Amino acid sequence: MPTLSDRTASLSESAIRKLDALVAARQNVSFYRVNIGQPDVATPAPMLQAIREFQAEVLRYGPASGLPACRQAAARYHSAWSAGLGPEHVAVTTGGSEALIYAFAVACDPGDEILAPEPFYTNYQGFACTVGAKVVPVPTSLQDGFALPSDAVLEASLTPRTRAVVFANPGNPTGAVYPRADLERLTAFCQKHGLLIISDEVYRRIYFQDPPASILEIPEARQRSICIDSMSKTWSACGLRLGFLISHNLEIMQAVERLGQSRLGPQPLAQAAAIAALELGDAHYVETRALYKERIDTLLEALSEIPGLSVHRPAGAFYLMVQLPVPDTEAFARFLAQDFAHEGESIVVAPGGGFFTDPERGKDLIRLAAVLEPAKLRRAAELLKLGLEAYRARIE
Ligand SMILES: Cc1ncc(COP(=O)(O)O)c(C=O)c1O
Repeated sequence: MPTLSDRTASLSESAIRKLDALVAARQNVSFYRVNIGQPDVATPAPMLQAIREFQAEVLRYGPASGLPACRQAAARYHSAWSAGLGPEHVAVTTGGSEALIYAFAVACDPGDEILAPEPFYTNYQGFACTVGAKVVPVPTSLQDGFALPSDAVLEASLTPRTRAVVFANPGNPTGAVYPRADLERLTAFCQKHGLLIISDEVYRRIYFQDPPASILEIPEARQRSICIDSMSKTWSACGLRLGFLISHNLEIMQAVERLGQSRLGPQPLAQAAAIAALELGDAHYVETRALYKERIDTLLEALSEIPGLSVHRPAGAFYLMVQLPVPDTEAFARFLAQDFAHEGESIVVAPGGGFFTDPERGKDLIRLAAVLEPAKLRRAAELLKLGLEAYRARIE
């Protein structure tokens, strides 16, 4: 047998996807899948039209950092947050995921560390593993709305190997929205300690009160930040696999170009759809926000009828972190997937442990994604209530 790397052996399976096999095995039960951020929302018609109209006799490679027209469209779109952005500040990537891997690769050599307010998007650990880096958690709490940690708390996690800070704004799974003052404080912190800022803004257009600030808006962050965006959520195009890495720092962009050359280039067909997406008017964003607000309100209202739950109202994105009165939410999620059904239906939830470097810290939490239409979310909450009753009867 060949010897395989320790770093992939120690990588745990995605918390979001690990229940899939159990769910697939129960073909007589229909599941409400609120464990994964896959919206049931139609992809905007002009994007689908661009795919239908895509003409090519040869499906060629495109340039490593993306087609000029796509980079130009993205630069124009992001200029609403930062004047002076041109195509040279944008790299097109295979999803926000690849943009994050590149950002981590630009920041870190093997063994280096990236701070992340915890709980954080579970795949940051997988991306860090890919480049041999390590995510170091900085604690936040449900009770104070998962607010950005103080400088003192951030400082306590610093080591000589710290190279960057990564966060999602709005947050997945927290729904926390960092305003401009937070990003200014974080920028000053990163200036003081020589760190790169990786601002994951794939939910930037989905918020319910004040909009999140973009790192692109902070002049002092220009030379030390990378902004990540994606077609997946705002444009409901998860399967397009199209994202962006944006930075004012041209040295960073040259490093990203070199990384991108090794995988040749992002898909031209997907870029045609992205160009159509970036030309949509404001109505699309207003509608998207209204749609998720209705879903979050519906889910919160339905959950308020379940005794013993603790929930924080998200300010953005489309997830809820819910504290449950069970000793181990991973076992509970498995029970829902494997054993529980009511009238032939059950629910799939994401256990909280996967959003922490130490899963013990998320043992009383689950994440729910408001990705289904309101009536389905009401039924999902009802199934959660019935599932909780059945589970507690079983373990008590
Ligand atoms: C916070 C965050 N960042 C990045 C991604 C990856 O997005 P993409 O589908 O563009 O790779 C996701 C997907 O759920 C996410 O929630």
